[in-house]
Amino acid sequence: MPKAVRYDRFGGIDVLHVAEVERPAPQDGQVLVRVKAAGINPSEAVIRTGALAEMFPSTFPSGQGSDLAGIVEEVAAGVGGYRPGDEVIGFSNERAAQAELVLVEAGDLTRKPAEVSWEVAGGLYVAGVTAWGAVHSVRPAEGETVVVSGAAGGVGSLAVQLARRTGATVIGLAGTGNHDWLRGHGVIPVAYGDGVADRIRAAAPGGVDAFVDTYGDGYVELALGLGVAPERIDIIADFAAAATYGVKTDGGTAAGPGAAVLAELAGLIADGRLEVPVAKVYPLEQVREAYAELERRHTHGKIVLRP
Ligand SMILES: NC(=O)c1ccc[n+]([C@@H]2O[C@H](COP(=O)([O-])OP(=O)(O)OC[C@H]3O[C@@H](n4cnc5c(N)ncnc54)[C@H](OP(=O)(O)O)[C@@H]3O)[C@@H](O)[C@H]2O)c1
Repeated sequence: MPKAVRYDRFGGIDVLHVAEVERPAPQDGQVLVRVKAAGINPSEAVIRTGALAEMFPSTFPSGQGSDLAGIVEEVAAGVGGYRPGDEVIGFSNERAAQAELVLVEAGDLTRKPAEVSWEVAGGLYVAGVTAWGAVHSVRPAEGETVVVSGAAGGVGSLAVQLARRTGATVIGLAGTGNHDWLRGHGVIPVAYGDGVADRIRAAAPGGVDAFVDTYGDGYVELALGLGVAPERIDIIADFAAAATYGVKTDGGTAAGPGAAVLAELAGLIADGRLEVPVAKVYPLEQVREAYAELERRHTHGKIVLRP
């Protein structure tokens, strides 16, 4: 029987386990994918604790995960465009991606270019469409300066590169261990912590035009203090600050059709114009260890599970 990540009640990392489940059968419009890699994301850990139970209700046993890449195993009758053996990137809206076999709506898949590794493809969806949506939301332009917090994380590492592609100057807030990586991608690194506002002002003598906050914890106030207009600040984590200050909350929802954005990002990766750093790859059985590392909140790029 195929294996899948499961949890049977809200809780900490210890509720996660890998179970043997029924082989899923594709219904109308669905494709069964044999997963080669599945990324993990902080929101999954929050949902698992039950803290967002009103916004994102759960039923048990619950599966987990949105991001996936794999090989088409079976296609429902009437679904065109895919055949068994095709290599695909996609996402599950059913919290089911962290498994050996996953049912995916055909419209939520795109082809995986051969140049894109399984690990990169499997970790692309949530971070990729969120970075895409957040950067488009603040509309950086040539001659402008945009600051990205959490600049080396899953979303931030892609947001800084997509922002640079607009021609804007990009300042990335990150721990010093990530500064060389940021410089290597044309981003001005600035350390977070005490004095960060002064360091940003020194790095941006002409002022800051836009701010993408992927971390939370006071960065909205920092951005406003730097003179950034609320409509050019986008947050993806600190929704309380967004409600208080009227800044934007565009993440994946602003990115448009997920598969189309995935295809665009995969093309950039295949051409060597976008890098998805893969921090670590864990076997599916080590799902607890993977989330323990993610929840330390210092991941550079993506953590990915390999079934
Ligand atoms: N709304 C949406 O659509 C959406 C979608 C995806 C994610 N999210 C949310 O966005 C957030 C980021 O997600 P992610 O996947 O990018 O997480 P992640 O990969 O875990 O990001 C961790 C990053 O946070 C940085 N960091 C740690 N302490 C910091 C501090 N005090 N100031 C600034 N940065 C700090 C780390 O930087 P260093 O390692 O350099 O210290 C690391 O690069 C999460 O809260 C997630 O739930 C929302």
